[in-house]
Amino acid sequence: MHAELIAVIGMAMQTDTNPVPGSCFGMSPSEFWQAAHEQSGQRLHRPIDDEAEEAFWRDYADGYDQKSPLAACSTELIADVQASLGAKWHMVEIGAGSGAFTRRLAPMLSRITIVEPSAAMRAEFQRLWDGAVAVDTMGSKWEDAPSMDADFVFGANAFYRIRNIAAALLKMNDIARHRVALVQTIGRPHANPLTLTVDGRTCERERANALCDVLGQLGIGYQRRDYRIARPDGPGMAALIDWVPNRSQ
Ligand SMILES: C[S@@+](CC[C@H](N)C(=O)[O-])C[C@H]1O[C@@H](n2cnc3c(N)ncnc32)[C@H](O)[C@@H]1O
Repeated sequence: MHAELIAVIGMAMQTDTNPVPGSCFGMSPSEFWQAAHEQSGQRLHRPIDDEAEEAFWRDYADGYDQKSPLAACSTELIADVQASLGAKWHMVEIGAGSGAFTRRLAPMLSRITIVEPSAAMRAEFQRLWDGAVAVDTMGSKWEDAPSMDADFVFGANAFYRIRNIAAALLKMNDIARHRVALVQTIGRPHANPLTLTVDGRTCERERANALCDVLGQLGIGYQRRDYRIARPDGPGMAALIDWVPNRSQ
C-alpha cells in the first residue's frame, strides 16, 4: 500500500433509493446536496452566480497552481489514477482549471477534451499547456455540455456549482466508456463541507461523503480511497472516488 493512501473507505454495490442512515433532515442524498447548494448560493453567490464566479477566477487564475497545489502534491493519488487507465484513452475532464491534473495525466492519453466554463481558467490552461496531446476545449459547465464520447471522465474539485448532482453523476456514467474518477479535497481549511441549516439545526457533510452518498442512491458501485496530501500550505486530505460505468444504469 502507498504511504500516502490512508484508507479504502468502501464500496457501494447496492441500489439504495432510501435516505442513507444518519442522513440530514430525512432527505435523500441528492435532495440534501441540492438544498445545501441552494443555501450556500444565498451566502456566497459564487455557487449560483456565473458573473461572481468568473470575477473570482479573473483574480485567482493567474498562478493558480502555486495557490492551490493539490495536483502537484498528489503523486500517489495520481499514480493510482494512471494505473487504472487503458492505452490511448480519450479523457474528458470536468473543470480542468489551469490543467494541473491534466498535465500529469496527459502522457497516458491519446486525446483530451476539457469542459471548463471559466474563460480566465481556460486562458491559464492554454498558457501552461506543454503536452503533446491535442486538447479540445469546451467553454461550458458540465451540466450544459453536449453529449460526447469518452473512454474516461475525470474531475477534481469541480462540483461545487452543480445543483443537480445526481444528473451530473449519471451524465459521467453515461459518457465514460471505461472509467470515471473524481478527486475531492477533504476537510477545512482546504475544502468546506456542504452545510444545510433548517429551523436552527445545521447538518454538515464532507463533499466527498456527499458524492459517495449520491452514488449509493443511484446504485452506482464505486471505490473510494483517501490520501494524506503534504501541501506546502499545511497537511490535507483528498478522496479518489472511481468506478467502472455501467451505461445501462
Ligand atoms: C477549484 S478549481 C479546480 C481546478 C482543477 N480541477 C484542479 O484541481 O486543479 C474548479 C474548477 O472547476 C470549474 N468548474 C466550476 N463549476 C463547474 C461546472 N459546473 N462544470 C465544469 N467545470 C466547473 C471552475 O471554473 C474551475 O476551473
